[in-house]
Amino acid sequence: MTGSPDNQKETRTLLGRRIVLGITGSIAAYKSAFLARELTRRGAEVRVVMTPSATEFITPLTLATLVDKPVHSDFTESVEKGTWTNHVELGLWGDLFLVAPCTAATMSAMVTGACDNLLQAVFLSARCPVMIAPAMDLDMFTNPATQQSLKTLSDRGILIIEPASGPLASGLEGKGRLEEPEIIAERVEDFFSENLPLSGKKVVITAGPTREPVDAVRYIGNRSTGKMGFAIAGRLADLGAHVTLIAGPVNLPTPDRVAERINIETAEELYEETIKVWPKMDAGIACAAVADLRPMKASDKKMHKDEFPDAVELEKTPDTLKAMGDSKAPGQTLMGFALETDNGIESAKGKLERKNLDFVVLNTLQDPGAGFNHDTNKVTVIKRVGLDTEMLSFELKTKKEVARDLVEMLFQIK
Ligand SMILES: Cc1cc2nc3c(=O)[nH]c(=O)nc-3n(C[C@H](O)[C@H](O)[C@H](O)COP(=O)(O)O)c2cc1C
Repeated sequence: MTGSPDNQKETRTLLGRRIVLGITGSIAAYKSAFLARELTRRGAEVRVVMTPSATEFITPLTLATLVDKPVHSDFTESVEKGTWTNHVELGLWGDLFLVAPCTAATMSAMVTGACDNLLQAVFLSARCPVMIAPAMDLDMFTNPATQQSLKTLSDRGILIIEPASGPLASGLEGKGRLEEPEIIAERVEDFFSENLPLSGKKVVITAGPTREPVDAVRYIGNRSTGKMGFAIAGRLADLGAHVTLIAGPVNLPTPDRVAERINIETAEELYEETIKVWPKMDAGIACAAVADLRPMKASDKKMHKDEFPDAVELEKTPDTLKAMGDSKAPGQTLMGFALETDNGIESAKGKLERKNLDFVVLNTLQDPGAGFNHDTNKVTVIKRVGLDTEMLSFELKTKKEVARDLVEMLFQIK
């Protein structure tokens, strides 16, 4: 890639997007290689599923090299070992299932619900939106059967990228050419900017530790790395939310598409910045590990050993989460985190009540791989349901996966 760093950022418009690219047996399948490259060049993570027929037009090896992932075309991976490709997992993994080129045969299978190959199985199990780019000869395209398939799929919410007009592989001229890869990639970009489940939602999320100064160089803090909060901020932004990330001192880059990052250092700053924006928000997620105590007096210069007081007097810091809960307006949803060193269900439930939360996410340091300094987390979510509560325990997962689960729960998206 060429150009200044700014230009590079501009072209990586699909960063963080997961696209399952389906390829079917059209002569235009060779263009899928260019499409795969366009999508990855723009930052998307791409996994390729091919129909057996497509593998006769372009080799899986070409695609696997371009997307840097194995290509799937069979239900079974190894008959001897009994391993198989999990089409349901692929269907759940993607943010978009894009079939380009899409043959008349595959369109017809999508209409009837046939499940004769892996691509069709992924289609049937995909929870994400599906986009198809039909490609075929002129007369195949205008045939009433094909037109009926297109109409039925469109009526069912499948997004259609109409074929272009021009010279066709058959020698004929007319409508049926697979749209150019750059144009398909642009349509994918438009899709992500317009049709996201959280478009129009505003969310504030706090993340990372706070530091409470003892003197100019020393502070009271904690071991939070901010990874969990940043993963949630990234997921929210991926789904189209307008995210304000209020971050303590952490060593993490701002996730792509996060609208605003406000860096804070102390619990007081966290309080002020959060309370300022909270009334404008649809939801708040308090993931920051706030230092609950601070020295009453902090020296503004470095204290020398002989200047140390016998004891440092502490006071409570402002309680941001409680203030958010107390001022929560109808329609606002609030999720708080509780980190406990033992089984803290009761204390998490207490937090839900005291702070007027809708969800509390409990992680205990007792669980291996959970809490600070890990890329994984194991959480139990307690949710307010009327006057009662509901509890859901998740297994140990990566923080990115936990972020997905939590965002799904918060906004009830599937
Ligand atoms: C050389 C050649 C080119 C083909 N091109 C197309 C095409 O562009 N569009 C189409 O719908 N079918 C085309 N077909 C027919 C499909 O390959 C055939 O219907 C196949 O069963 C599709 O299977 P699939 O949809 O599972 O990949 C072509 C066949 C051959 C032999």
